[in-house]
Amino acid sequence: MATNSQSIIRTLLLVSLFFAQIKVSLGQSDNSENTENFSQESAVVKTQQFMVVTSDRRASVAAHKILNDGGSAADAAIAAQLVLGLTEPHASGLGGGAFVLYYDKNKKKLITLDARETAPQSADENLFRDSDGQIMDFNIARSSGKSVGVPGTPALLGKLHNEYGKLSMSDLIRPARELALNGFVLSNDLKKAIFRNKKNLMKSDHTKDYFLSSNFIKNPHYAESLDALAKYGYESFYRSPVSTNIITTVNANGGDIKQSDFDNYKVIRREPVCDDFFEYKVCSMGEPSSGAITMLQILKIFEYSPTWHTYIEASKLAFADRNYYIADADFVDTPGTKLLADEYIKNRYKQISNKILHNPSHGLVSMRYQNNTNGLGPEERGTTHISIVDMEGNILSMTSTIESSFGSKLMSNGYLLNNELTDFSFLAYDENRSVANRVQAGKRPRSSMTPTIVFKKSDNSPVLVLGSAGGSRIIGHVTQRLIDILYYKSTLKDAIYASHLLSQGSVIESEGMTNVTRSLERKGHKIEVKNLLSALNGIHFDDDNVIVGVSDPRREGLAIGR
Ligand code: GLY
Repeated sequence: MATNSQSIIRTLLLVSLFFAQIKVSLGQSDNSENTENFSQESAVVKTQQFMVVTSDRRASVAAHKILNDGGSAADAAIAAQLVLGLTEPHASGLGGGAFVLYYDKNKKKLITLDARETAPQSADENLFRDSDGQIMDFNIARSSGKSVGVPGTPALLGKLHNEYGKLSMSDLIRPARELALNGFVLSNDLKKAIFRNKKNLMKSDHTKDYFLSSNFIKNPHYAESLDALAKYGYESFYRSPVSTNIITTVNANGGDIKQSDFDNYKVIRREPVCDDFFEYKVCSMGEPSSGAITMLQILKIFEYSPTWHTYIEASKLAFADRNYYIADADFVDTPGTKLLADEYIKNRYKQISNKILHNPSHGLVSMRYQNNTNGLGPEERGTTHISIVDMEGNILSMTSTIESSFGSKLMSNGYLLNNELTDFSFLAYDENRSVANRVQAGKRPRSSMTPTIVFKKSDNSPVLVLGSAGGSRIIGHVTQRLIDILYYKSTLKDAIYASHLLSQGSVIESEGMTNVTRSLERKGHKIEVKNLLSALNGIHFDDDNVIVGVSDPRREGLAIGR
């Protein structure tokens, strides 16, 4: 039960959130075309100086304050991520990993940062086999210490701060620290996630006491972790006692992780993968993410014959390539951007014409094959996206994850630990060929995260910032919205609110029957209607220098700016 002081704090928080909302709606929101099934609160926000969009309003409000105080997009992302680790803990946090695209306006330079979780040195291709040599049940594997990779998010926040930060880390931890110490009210999204995962969360006293005892929770351990970040830097997350606490928890639950795995962790700066789409240059995250390559394959094939039929068939072809080839290229030979070569794309397009493909095969690239498995996996809710532009025009597009909802369900130091290693293929060989995305020591599992920034080809000015949650469906969610906005010239809101449509091999998954799906059905496509779990957060720069922000109404986010 909440004490009297907790009730007072809760009231104060609700009042401050109410005023935060009023601020957004004053002259900025345009709720006039609100889609029937979605709440009024997820609306269009228009500003001129800066904008932040996240899937939790408290994270957006925290980042807004940092931007208002002169912080950079990197500063705002750090504040937002630290709040998300508390208020949307089932989706991301200090126990997880992330990818960032950062556009430095002054230098006109786009970089990407890979803070993917990493397999420990003890891991090999038998990681997900039980003592009888049988492939483990996915649900058992993902709640086990075996699935926990060395977290990358703390090192990422440290790197962002060191390279692009303007405010002190003490300023950046403050919003999350106050929520952790004073307590916060669970969002409906978190309550629903707890309800869905109740059985697993009941298994340990730690998660049971934290998530299942009240709708208003405090997290003093989390506040201690934040203090350590401000006082000793992100490195403290990779040293004892923080690392020892994680090692003890993971190894008590079937894992085998050591201090040397923490000593070796590094954020890797990689080249962005960019390619043309009509008059735009679309940039996203390369391997170990499949996001950029798969999305750009679909877009480039779509360009040959821009219809939703082409989009669907191109998705099937691109996913066949993804599943076969794409992996951590620091460990296996992959074709990489050869999969985007003009001649290759043209040949893939020729396979479509008017046909409906059923689980097509990967294309042939002149290289040694490394077969890969894993197609359409389970729906995943353990991911979130942050889009930010600061006052100087620096842009951040960051997708952050702990993989499944509540990650491995293991908690340490006040945060949940990821189960990212289940993004590896559980099978190492297929028809006597090595699977590219097999488990290897020190390797990063293939991701589908697709943090994206789009520029105009003519003058390199930014047009769009976008990313989403949704497991392997992230790629479809982001790609479809790029087609809506860049080709069909939809507004950001219409695109994000529209019904999702995607395919990874045979059937089309759709959120509902629309004119588009009905016409595809008439053409002979099989349509499966289901809820699709995106969490798109986008920023659009329109031609009149207006910055438009929209948060996906499928979560409880907020676009807010000045
Ligand atoms: N765990 C989601 C992804 O990386 O694709």
